Amino acid sequence: MFLRSIQLTNFKNHEKLDLSFSKKLNCFIGNNGAGKTNILDAIHYICLTKSYFNATDQQNIRFGNDFMRLSAEAAISEEDQQIVCKLPIGKKKDFSVNDIAYRKMSDHIGLMPVVMIAPDDNQLIIGSSEERRKFIDNTISQVDREYLDHLILYNKYLDQRNALLRSINTSGHKDDLLMQNYDENLSRYGTFIHQKRKTTLAELESIFAHYHSIVCLEKENTAFEYDSLQNQEPLFELLRKNISREIMMERTLAGPHRDDIVFTINKNKLKRFGSQGQQKSFLIALKLAQYHYIKKHKSFLPFLLIDDIFDKIDRERSKQLVQLLSGEDFGQIFITDTDQMHIEEELAGRPDIFDIFKIQ
Ligand SMILES: Nc1ncnc2c1ncn2[C@@H]1O[C@H](COP(=O)(O)OP(=O)(O)OP(=O)(O)O)[C@@H](O)[C@H]1O
Ligand SMILES: [Mg+2]
Repeated sequence: MFLRSIQLTNFKNHEKLDLSFSKKLNCFIGNNGAGKTNILDAIHYICLTKSYFNATDQQNIRFGNDFMRLSAEAAISEEDQQIVCKLPIGKKKDFSVNDIAYRKMSDHIGLMPVVMIAPDDNQLIIGSSEERRKFIDNTISQVDREYLDHLILYNKYLDQRNALLRSINTSGHKDDLLMQNYDENLSRYGTFIHQKRKTTLAELESIFAHYHSIVCLEKENTAFEYDSLQNQEPLFELLRKNISREIMMERTLAGPHRDDIVFTINKNKLKRFGSQGQQKSFLIALKLAQYHYIKKHKSFLPFLLIDDIFDKIDRERSKQLVQLLSGEDFGQIFITDTDQMHIEEELAGRPDIFDIFKIQ
């Protein structure tokens, strides 16, 4: 897979920008606020139909304008594809590949897999469980269409069940048949999601160990654990068991939407006891594991986006990282840095593999 070029119109701070890329390493260099991260986000948007950073689509339209447009040319499985997204202000986006518009955005997921490494990623460790669920869902969804479909259905039934719990609590009227139907559906999709997340996490853990030993200079014992009530009891039982409390609280208390991932380092929880440096190395290795998990299951190389590449690590580690990224295990990469000298130094002697884009 190769991203030949991208065009931004009124995307965040970029009024108009047209870039053609190198096959290997593309570096965006510029001062703070120039719009480097926004370019990575535009690539992320083209791949996954949404921003990595903004939860609402409309925030991506350049202030004071009434639309934004992104387009890109890419070779995917040796075929040329043109991807276009148009977003008018106050309306929904239109997303198409080779002039054919998607009915559902989820149909695009998996066509152009991508992994982003950004400074804010520490939320994945210190933030709420939702961040970790998003991470594992994003990883699996990019390689497994069935998983994404089941996840969408699970969330639909969860919303409906929660609405029913609210109405039972206010009206006192119980619709047992409808509840049974929701429980059966939630349990069917929820059991699938639980299983898939567990096996994926175990696979990620073994890939992770390899990259962690490269990124990390000291030897550390790390482990991943999938934390779920479903580890002990089937979801159908859990749903029946909690029903009175659920009606009172008006929400469903068990299921994949409540699960978490626990990361440990030398048997301690990384979230509470990891130093900042340990958390940084852990995050980079986790994202590299995500990258290689996707690569293995797609049989081609995803895009890798690394924001503020050297912000995360010291000089010794950044040398190691650049060596690793310029090797055969990685495909097309997009990185940002404020310091051009830095990247040129790291890649001295390899002018064939990188292009520099000055952003101002
Ligand atoms: N919708 C928008 N319209 C206009 N400008 C925006 C919009 N969204 C974000 N920006 C602006 O884009 C600017 C550039 O952001 P970006 O994060 O890409 O810079 P950067 O080059 O990565 O900077 P740094 O080196 O500090 O990371 C910011 O000043 C931000 O306020
Ligand atoms: Mg930035």
